[in-house]
Amino acid sequence: MSDIIIKETINSLVDKSSFDIVVLKSVNSTNSYAKALAKFGSSHETVVIADRQTAGRGRLGREFFSPAGTGIYMSVLLDADKISLASSHITVAAGVAVCRVLKDICNDTPFIKWVNDIFIGRKKVCGILAESLGNPSHSISNIIVGIGLNVTTPSADFPDELNNIAGSIFPKNTSRNEIIAKILTEFKSIYKSSDIEGLIKEYKKHSFVLEKKISFIQNGKAFSGIAKNINNEGNLIVKLENGETITLKSGDVSLGSESFAI
Ligand code: BTN
Repeated sequence: MSDIIIKETINSLVDKSSFDIVVLKSVNSTNSYAKALAKFGSSHETVVIADRQTAGRGRLGREFFSPAGTGIYMSVLLDADKISLASSHITVAAGVAVCRVLKDICNDTPFIKWVNDIFIGRKKVCGILAESLGNPSHSISNIIVGIGLNVTTPSADFPDELNNIAGSIFPKNTSRNEIIAKILTEFKSIYKSSDIEGLIKEYKKHSFVLEKKISFIQNGKAFSGIAKNINNEGNLIVKLENGETITLKSGDVSLGSESFAI
């Protein structure tokens, strides 16, 4: 099966596509490229997709390994005032959209590690990096949602430090064009809806941190506790070992004593 990313094929697979798709062979980062496009006036529903990234960016300043031909690296540029969700919910929306698609095309069930790392089995297969752009009045004008999905990257190709943690989805007979179209379709149906409760409910169903022991670092201090809930803002509620309850808005959590931080 030929697996070249083609704009026209993606558009033909997205029902009544309104996306303005830009496909690149290689770029430093699709998020950075989308940010530059936004500054030059590109607008709502521009999607930048690359076959390869030379400096793919992850959360917390990490790198996202993005080799040619075997992954999906895409960024969706949205106007904040044209979507029904607040920017704080958009990353949750992207995670749920990817899970819906993986459920459909993979043999295994996808799980989300809060905030937005998607796992199949014990391997992280997808990461999401949402960034906002402000306007002169300091409100958010654009949101860039970057999705990195390892599709067929062989395990031996991941750098040594990722080898035990990162994996690929190896879909059943589904091309990258089809996966991209499915993700865009699901993502759009979610950001066009204002059913926050339904969104959080679906997100929680995919979460594998709830009722588990987690640890995290805040202001240079290590904490651990039990993840009790994800509230309607998408924040993680943790009952600490000292009995206190804390609400995490962002950051990175590890399960038990294992580190999933990649
Ligand atoms: C993470 O795992 O911390 C988030 C990874 C996000 C990677 C995607 S790939 C497409 C887009 N462009 C980037 O530079 N990063 C995001």
